[in-house]
Amino acid sequence: MSAPVNIAISGAAGQISYSLIFQLISGDLLGFEQPINLSLLEVPEMIGALSGVAMELEDCASPVLNNVTCHSNPEVAFKDADLIFLIGARPRGPGMERKDLLQTNAGIFSVQGRAINAVAKRSVKVLIVGNPANTNSLIARTNAPDLPSESFIAMSRLDHNRAVSLAASQCGCNVSDVARVIVWGNHSATQYPDLYHATVGGESVLERVGEHWFKQEFIGTVQNRGTEVIKTRGKSSAGSAAHAALEQMRDWVKGTPQGDWKSMIVTSDGSYGVEQGLMYSFPVQVSERGIWSIVQGLDINEFSAIKIKESELELVSEREAVSHLIPSFS
Ligand code: NAD
Ligand code: LMR
Repeated sequence: MSAPVNIAISGAAGQISYSLIFQLISGDLLGFEQPINLSLLEVPEMIGALSGVAMELEDCASPVLNNVTCHSNPEVAFKDADLIFLIGARPRGPGMERKDLLQTNAGIFSVQGRAINAVAKRSVKVLIVGNPANTNSLIARTNAPDLPSESFIAMSRLDHNRAVSLAASQCGCNVSDVARVIVWGNHSATQYPDLYHATVGGESVLERVGEHWFKQEFIGTVQNRGTEVIKTRGKSSAGSAAHAALEQMRDWVKGTPQGDWKSMIVTSDGSYGVEQGLMYSFPVQVSERGIWSIVQGLDINEFSAIKIKESELELVSEREAVSHLIPSFS
C-alpha cells in the first residue's frame, strides 16, 4: 500500500462535510487502495459534535481510513496537508443572495489562507466551497503568497453538473452523452451557463434544444437552482454539493476526461478578457499529473461576451467590498 494522503477539511461537522467524509473513506476520491489521513477542523463550539463524527468514522472500519484527528486550530489542522477542502462557512438562508455572506465569511478565509501558507505541503491542492466561493478563494489565495496561485481553486462543479443534467434531460439522453458545457464567472445568479460549445453524442446541443429554450429557460434555471433548493428543502444543498466537491477534487488530482472539460473557478490569466487575478469559473482541462489549464481559443459571440463581462463586474465589486482582507489591494 502507498503512504497515506493527508486530507484536511474545514467545517467538518457541517452538512456538506457529513456527506463528503463518508464518500472519502469509501475510496471515492483516490481509490480503495489509497489510504488517507483525515484532519478535521471546526470552530471550538463544534468540537464536541465533531468528535461524534470521528466516532462514526471509526465505526465504519474502513481500510481506506488510516487516521482521523479533530482540531480547532487551522495551523494544526492544515499541517502537511496534501489536499484541503475549505467548506467551513455560514450557508445562506431563504431570501439571501450568496454575496450577503461576504462580510460574515470572508475573515475565515484570510486566517485559513495564512495558516495554509505556513504549514501545508508546498504541493497542496486547496478547493474552496464556502460561499461566496469565488471571492473567498481570492482571499485565501492572496493570503498564501508563498504558494503558487494554481494551488487554490473554487467550486463551480455543482453549477456545471446542474447544467449538464438539465441539458441531458431536455435532449432526452443520458448525462454521459453531454460534453463541453461551460459555466462562466461567479457562483452567483450572474453565472453564465453556456451551451454554445456543448455536444450531445458529438452533435450540437443547441441545435437539439433550440436557442429560445436555452435563453428563456436553461440559463435562469441553472442560475437559480441553489435558491430553489433552499426554498424547497429549507436548507442549502448538501449532498449534491459534497458530490460536486469530490468530483472537482478528483478531476484536479487525476485529470479531466479526454475530449471534455469541466468548469472550475481558477485564477484568471486574462483569458477571454477576464481581469487577471480574479477567481473566475472557466472551462478547464487538467492533465493526468494534476496540472490545470484554461481551455483556449473558443469562439465567444456577442451574447456570451455580455454575460461573461456581467459576472466579471460582479466579482470586481465583491473584491472591492473585502479589499481590506486582500494583501495586494489594501
Ligand atoms: P453548515 O452550516 O452545515 O456547516 C458549516 C460548518 O462550518 C459549521 O459546522 C460551522 O461550525 C463550520 N465553520 C464555521 N466557521 C468555521 C471556521 N472558521 N473554521 C472551521 N469551521 C467553521 O453549512 P454547509 O451546508 O455545510 O455549507 C458550508 C458552506 O458551503 C456554506 O457557505 C454554503 O453556502 C457553501 N456551499 C457552497 C456551494 C458551492 O457550490 N460552492 C454549494 C453548497 C454550499
Ligand atoms: C448552491 O448553489 O446550492 C449553494 O451555493 C448553496 C446556495 O446558497 O445556493
